[in-house]
Amino acid sequence: MSDEIILQVKDLDVHYKDFQALWNVSLSVRSGGIISVIGANGSGKSTLLNTIAGLLRPSRGSVEFSGRPIDRHPAYEILGMGISLVPEGRRMFARLTVYENLLMGSYLPKSRSTREETLARLHELFPVLKARGNQMANTLSGGEQQMLAIGRALMSGPRLLLCDEISLGLAPLIIKDIYKRLELINREGMTIMLVEQDIRRSLKASNYTYVMLEGKVVLKGAPTSFTEEVVRKAYFGV
Ligand SMILES: Nc1ncnc2c1ncn2[C@@H]1O[C@H](COP(=O)(O)OP(=O)(O)O)[C@@H](O)[C@H]1O
Ligand SMILES: [Mg+2]
Repeated sequence: MSDEIILQVKDLDVHYKDFQALWNVSLSVRSGGIISVIGANGSGKSTLLNTIAGLLRPSRGSVEFSGRPIDRHPAYEILGMGISLVPEGRRMFARLTVYENLLMGSYLPKSRSTREETLARLHELFPVLKARGNQMANTLSGGEQQMLAIGRALMSGPRLLLCDEISLGLAPLIIKDIYKRLELINREGMTIMLVEQDIRRSLKASNYTYVMLEGKVVLKGAPTSFTEEVVRKAYFGV
């Protein structure tokens, strides 16, 4: 991990009409690190990731990527700058093949030129995506679909990967397997920001953690700097 701050979120407020979902959220992500955002259902995790990815506009505050403000840019431009989101619920194209889904991830000209290399590397990382390349995405198991969602996000050749609850609804062994691969991707230099409801898994996987409660950051630090009990209390607001 380097000292370079790749992503800086400052004083972010996000509203859905009259409802305020994020309150003064600030965080920073170091290049090469894995940071996790932990929070219960409804605490604002997806709102945060979707705002960083340009799918939502903040009503106050800023998002900077590599020192450059991105919060007024449309989502496709942010993708082009190097931030790719694995959305909650995987959202693949069910009636396209695995291969076609992966190609969808590299529709921007920049990533199209390196498509073959990226695909080859992905196939090494997730051999099942190669083996099942010609199958419809909706015939994959849950774990395989999650790998496809991650693979599709990687096809754009990002520098920062945002993962929204990739373990949701998957069996523990499969979650472990997916996390192992994420660590490999990280070791090759990818910066990763993940959000999870699972406290233990997130603490284990990351080198910095933020805990969110009702749209606010209520705790932050290196996972080694606090006990699981402290995290649990912040998480539940008790
Ligand atoms: N499209 C929306 N319209 C109105 N409220 C929303 C919308 N999406 C999320 N919310 C609300 O914003 C809050 C945060 O939601 P979300 O970011 O999805 O939380 P999490 O991902 O942590 O479960 C919740 O209270 C949720 O009900
Ligand atoms: Mg969510």
